Amino acid sequence: MELAGKKIILGLSGGIACYKAAELARLLGKAGASVQAAMTDAATHFITTVTMQALTGKPVFTDQWDARIANNMAHIDLSREADAILIAPCSADFLFKLAHGACDDLLSTLCLARPTGLPLMVAPAMNVEMWQNPATQRNVARLKEDGILVLGPDAGAQACGETGMGRMLEPAYLLEEVIAAFQPKALKGKRVLLTAGPTFEPIDPVRGITNLSSGKMGFAIARAAREAGAQVTLLAGPTALPTPYGVTRIDVQSARQMHDAVLARVAGQDIFIAVAAVADWRVVGASEQKLKKNAAGDPPQLLLEPNPDILATVAALPDRPYCIGFAAESENLAQYGEEKRRRKNVPLLVGNIGHHTFGKDDNELMLFEDSGQTMLPRAGKQELARQLIGVIARRL
Ligand code: C5P
Repeated sequence: MELAGKKIILGLSGGIACYKAAELARLLGKAGASVQAAMTDAATHFITTVTMQALTGKPVFTDQWDARIANNMAHIDLSREADAILIAPCSADFLFKLAHGACDDLLSTLCLARPTGLPLMVAPAMNVEMWQNPATQRNVARLKEDGILVLGPDAGAQACGETGMGRMLEPAYLLEEVIAAFQPKALKGKRVLLTAGPTFEPIDPVRGITNLSSGKMGFAIARAAREAGAQVTLLAGPTALPTPYGVTRIDVQSARQMHDAVLARVAGQDIFIAVAAVADWRVVGASEQKLKKNAAGDPPQLLLEPNPDILATVAALPDRPYCIGFAAESENLAQYGEEKRRRKNVPLLVGNIGHHTFGKDDNELMLFEDSGQTMLPRAGKQELARQLIGVIARRL
């Protein structure tokens, strides 16, 4: 319930992406937000107020002169109650109106009347030519100068049959951005590099050695770092997890690929977080061709050699970033955790309490530092990731 207690005004202006606003209203509600929909007249041509009312559980506002507001000041009442306003979809015309302070309908008026500091986010959605038009780009630049958050748009196939920039960002990403808007910007301007997931060490082109790491904790930390305002690069081993919005992701397979990818990008980073469960060994002389069973049925003999230790390599760099390691131990975490921190020479080592965390949605962490140990009690991985980012930001 990442938006529990938050009141969001979801404004819809005219565009075919209005149909996605229905899903967005649902996602915001599921995250705990109380959603008040407000629609322009054009939006009501694309989706009905009945749909939005049913999904938000509240009558929709479309009219400045709505008789439900006794003093006829819907624009004041609605914007004073809100914790954030999100316009999705935001048409080219509505961008223009916001950029120029127009207020000729309820939605634009309540945006203009919003209290100073109330977050206003817009998710543009329009035809590619309309988006690229210098007039629209001028309006977008003006909105950014005014501190309005412009989310997207995405590129791809459009409802009009053309292809390019102008698709509204997917509702799941918009939800991530609304949640991010409420997070403290503790890492603003910082650069963060992370590894996450398992690695895969080939035996032959179709077989390999890997482990049960899902990547969930590393991806949650990447998202939390980006929510905190950092520029985040995520080096991911094989995992099907979706990339957190706004994070640069690079996929790798083996430990050596991960090692090379990290070393190619580590210069200029402020923070390095090694969350990946890197395979300790790789197969010597992995076969180029699929290994065949022989007539006698003898299994092949695999010879292993050690992989480079990525974290220890980064921690030994002369100009190293602030380094954080992880440990998953099946016993004696208190002792092994501190030993590992010293061996890897990192200021902060994060121990998973219990090694059954792989693939789970929650976790329990023990932080090892010079100053001693701190426990982060059991919680969802995203929540723990935010707490950990808070700790890291304080240590920097
Ligand atoms: O030595 P061990 O694998 O237990 O250490 C775990 C920590 O070291 C994790 O932070 C992991 O990402 C990192 N590591 C690494 N390269 C390796 C092995 C582990 O970066 N080859």
